[in-house]
Amino acid sequence: MTYAVGIDLGTTNSVIAIYRRGSAETLRIDGRSTMPSVVSFRDDTSILVGQSAKSRLLLDPENTLASTKRFMGDRSKNYKIGSNSLTPVNIASLILKRLVESARKELDNAEIWDAVITVPAYFTEDQKEDTKRAGEEAGLNVLRLLPEPTAAAIAYGLDKEKDQTLMVYDLGGGTFDVSILNVTGNRFTVKAVGGDGNLGGDDFDLAIVDWVSKDFKAKTGINLLAEKGKAAMSARQRLKEAAETAKIELSQSDRAMITIPDCLGHPIDLEITLAQYNSLIEPMLLRTAECMKSVLRDAKLSGEDIDRVILVGGSTKNRAVQEIVAREIREPFTSERVDEVVAHGAAIMASSLYAPDSVDIDVSEKTSHSLGIIMLDGSTEFFKPVIPRQTTYPCELGVLGFTTTSRQEQVRFQVQRGEEKNPDRNTHLGELMLPVSPPQNDQVPVGAIFALDADGIIHFTAVQFPLTGSVTPILNHASNHDGSLDIMATKALIVSGEAKEQSTTIDSGVTKK
Ligand SMILES: Nc1ncnc2c1ncn2[C@@H]1O[C@H](COP(=O)(O)OP(=O)(O)OP(=O)(O)O)[C@@H](O)[C@H]1O
Ligand SMILES: [Mg+2]
Repeated sequence: MTYAVGIDLGTTNSVIAIYRRGSAETLRIDGRSTMPSVVSFRDDTSILVGQSAKSRLLLDPENTLASTKRFMGDRSKNYKIGSNSLTPVNIASLILKRLVESARKELDNAEIWDAVITVPAYFTEDQKEDTKRAGEEAGLNVLRLLPEPTAAAIAYGLDKEKDQTLMVYDLGGGTFDVSILNVTGNRFTVKAVGGDGNLGGDDFDLAIVDWVSKDFKAKTGINLLAEKGKAAMSARQRLKEAAETAKIELSQSDRAMITIPDCLGHPIDLEITLAQYNSLIEPMLLRTAECMKSVLRDAKLSGEDIDRVILVGGSTKNRAVQEIVAREIREPFTSERVDEVVAHGAAIMASSLYAPDSVDIDVSEKTSHSLGIIMLDGSTEFFKPVIPRQTTYPCELGVLGFTTTSRQEQVRFQVQRGEEKNPDRNTHLGELMLPVSPPQNDQVPVGAIFALDADGIIHFTAVQFPLTGSVTPILNHASNHDGSLDIMATKALIVSGEAKEQSTTIDSGVTKK
């Protein structure tokens, strides 16, 4: 048998699932439905992944890595383990390999080559590209990168006939995503997306850690957070785990204990009440409320238009999270398998792409950021969005410009992501030099084309147009449509050889700030 799998590659936990006989199933790893996204390197060069690695966070914190998804897309991040240097992509690929190997065993050594991997809706193009690279490094053919909220909506909405507007509120360990989708049959149309790539349950733990550390400093004079050395690292890890345990307890009880018999020579024995905990995390919950409001605005909807709010991710078990959703929008729906729905949606999508007669899912996504290039107005540089945020993709859009000096030999295209007119405030993604040949005294028309594929990865093309009459329709189109390129006509000129093109997949390795 051969299966295409769905993988939720989470900050704290990962899940792998398949779709068969009309439903999605989680494949168990080490007897559990979720696997910690933790990798540990042992002295004898063996690599542990999952539950066994998580146990080593305390014993061997220097050689054990957790929450590395937070650094996906950061090309300067390197983990030094012994003599090895590992990137967040390498770590993700080790996690993916372990998931797939375990799944193969669960499926009587079935073959698994194809996968849909989920990513936060708010992931940037470079973060997505890195996730895809991790999949490839793990030997997988990545059928699609699917935004986590869309995956959750698919798992929830499959085969529900009614036309519904859903809001998915996904608060995991490290990321927060919110999406509004329209669901009709098995057609999922994203209306708007938003979120915060750096907000999750880890931050709730750290808020408790801060709170305890203040008390500890007052009692002992030791600043636990600033202490150096292995003992302090272990102490902080132990405190973080105690904080997480207390947090989870507070999802059920009104008080919890944080107890560590020996923390750098002193005991910790503190009680935290639900009210105290809620006030620690309130600023973060308010940030999620702001995100919900802004996504509603982007979708041009109000709270009453939302038929259902679906909660996804372990951190939605916090009662204060459920309360803020109820207050802002409506009483939310919580699935029994809040930890598995994302992987289930990915498995359904994988099946739809791999074996279309098994299930037929149609998804259209929206961009969460604007993409464009730097252009010149006189001598002032400004950012020109070519694919505005909240554009449905896959899509292909372009803009027309001109050389600015006579006999100019090349045009520099600087690709950015952001919402600001001032290029200094946006993120620089990469650039492409287009030689102008032969250089001309006239202003030479040049174009920039952005193709955003189904995975949300950018393919950028720069074009030099001829100075002949065949360019006239393109110039006319651009002047009627605020500079936008007629893509069909441009492609026709490229095919006929009249226009010259140069393409690249945007690699965000060049980072300005
Ligand atoms: N009962 C609970 N109450 C409160 N928080 C919980 C509970 N159970 C799990 N969590 C928290 O949920 C988080 C993990 O959630 P989840 O497994 O959905 O994240 P993830 O998918 O790994 O992360 P992300 O989606 O951000 O990449 C952790 O911070 C964990 O402490
Ligand atoms: Mg998740």
